[in-house]
Amino acid sequence: MQTHQLFLELKNTLSQYTEEFEIESKLFICHFLKWEPNTFVNHLSDDIPKEISKEIKSSVKKRMEENIPLAYLFKKWPFRKNTYSTSPGVLIPRSDTEYLVEKAIKLIQENNISTIYEIGYGSGIISIELAKEYPDCSIVGWDISKDAYNLANKNLHTLIPAPSTSISKMQPYSRQNNIPIFYQNDFFEIYDSYAFDFSNTLFISNPPYIKTDVIKTLEPQVSLWEPKEALDGGESGIDFYEKFLAWYSTKLANRPPSKGFVLFEIGYDQQREMEKLSEKYKLKLSVNNDLQNLPRVCLFTN
Ligand SMILES: C[S@@+](CC[C@H](N)C(=O)[O-])C[C@H]1O[C@@H](n2cnc3c(N)ncnc32)[C@H](O)[C@@H]1O
Repeated sequence: MQTHQLFLELKNTLSQYTEEFEIESKLFICHFLKWEPNTFVNHLSDDIPKEISKEIKSSVKKRMEENIPLAYLFKKWPFRKNTYSTSPGVLIPRSDTEYLVEKAIKLIQENNISTIYEIGYGSGIISIELAKEYPDCSIVGWDISKDAYNLANKNLHTLIPAPSTSISKMQPYSRQNNIPIFYQNDFFEIYDSYAFDFSNTLFISNPPYIKTDVIKTLEPQVSLWEPKEALDGGESGIDFYEKFLAWYSTKLANRPPSKGFVLFEIGYDQQREMEKLSEKYKLKLSVNNDLQNLPRVCLFTN
C-alpha cells in the first residue's frame, strides 16, 4: 500500500473520532516510519510494508477505543525545539506552556536572575528548557509525583547529558555543574525547611489550575488519562496560587529589599482571580496574553 492510500484510509477512520483527523493520520504514519512530519509530502508514493501499515492501523484502533492521547501512544512529544519522553501519570507538554518559558527567558536576561525554583516540573520541560538557555543558572524543582520524578530525570539525562546528574531525594542542596536538580516532594511540606534564596530569584510554575468539577467535563483523553494531581486546582481552581502566594509574600516581607519574581501559567479565565490575589498579598501583577489573546502568563513582583 502506498502512503497516500493509507493516509486516506486513516483519515476516513479517524474522522469518526476527532476533528484533528488529518493531522493525526499524518502523525501516525510519520511516527511509525520515523519520518519528520514536514517531509511527509515527499513520501506520498512510497510503498509502506504490510506489517507496518498493520501496526499503524492497530495503533489508531487503540487510540479510538481507549481514548489514549497520541503523546502516550508515541511515548514522546515535542516542546519548543526538543522532543521529550512522555508517560501516563505525567502531564503531556502543552504548547500553551511555551509562552511561560519565553516570558521566563526574557525575564531572566533582563534581571540577571541566577536562581530558579520550579514547582510541579512534570516531564521537566520548563526547567530543562531554561537550563539549556541559561546553563549558569542554578535550577531546583519539586514535584509531588513519583512518575514525574522518574520522567523528568530521564528527560534531563537525555537532553542535558552530564556525568553526574543528581537524582537524590531531598538531600541538602548540592550544586553540580548547574544541572537542574529535581526532588520528589509535596512543595507545601518542604517549603518551610528548605533554604531558599529569595533575592533576584525566579519561582516558576505551571500548577494544577482546573476547577475540580470541571475535570470530568474535559475531553476523555484528558480526564481519563492525565493525572489528577496535575490538573486539579481545587474547588475554585486557584488553590495552588493562593497557598503559594500566602507563603511567598510573608517570606519576602521579612527580607527587604529583596527583589523577587513569580511567574505562573494561568487558565484563560483566571485573570480576575490573580488580580484579587495581587491585592491581597500586596504584590504587583502583570498579565501576558497568548496568541489567541487570552490571559496565559502572570508575573508577580514586589
Ligand atoms: C499542570 S502540571 C505541569 C507539569 C509541567 N511543569 C508542564 O508544564 O508540563 C502540574 C504539576 O504539579 C505537580 N504538583 C501538584 N501539586 C504539587 C505540590 N503540592 N507540590 C509539588 N508538585 C505538585 C503535579 O504532579 C504536576 O506534575
